[in-house]
Amino acid sequence: MKIMVVQGPNLNMLGVREQEIYGPMKLEQIHNQMKEFANQNGVDIEFFQSNLEGELVDKIQECFGEVDGIIINPAAYTHTSIAIRDAISAVSIPTIEVHISNIHRREEFRKQNMIAPVCASSIVGFGPFGYHLAMIGMLQIMNEVRAVREAQQARAAK
Ligand code: DQA
Repeated sequence: MKIMVVQGPNLNMLGVREQEIYGPMKLEQIHNQMKEFANQNGVDIEFFQSNLEGELVDKIQECFGEVDGIIINPAAYTHTSIAIRDAISAVSIPTIEVHISNIHRREEFRKQNMIAPVCASSIVGFGPFGYHLAMIGMLQIMNEVRAVREAQQARAAK
């Protein structure tokens, strides 16, 4: 099983940017923790961060046929990007959206979310721990997908 973690604009500045909102952890530390959890659970994991919308779209497209689940924090593009939303729909890979802050309690413009409707789940407001919750959620989704596939195979073999 393989998970792709896609991080949007300015998340490379975690640990520096608006610490009162996003906390002191750097992106690299978050990724190290995710990698450790993935290793413990026999999951392959890859990380990608970009400040460019098109690069994020390219990365999601590259996941097609290669990746079992996507964990994405589209950052500011959450509120504007139909292109990222369409890419997630196009590849049809189970996707969990993470936001470090609670976007529902912030400025009005952050309440518009282009991405959530095409995701299996959204995790908001847990700080960096949200990425860990997303990993647990993704394992659960993968187990459910596997159970459905096995049931279909068993039925077909009868
Ligand atoms: C964010 C929330 C977005 O509104 C913001 O633009 C970000 C980070 C979060 O993780 O809380 O860059 O996605």
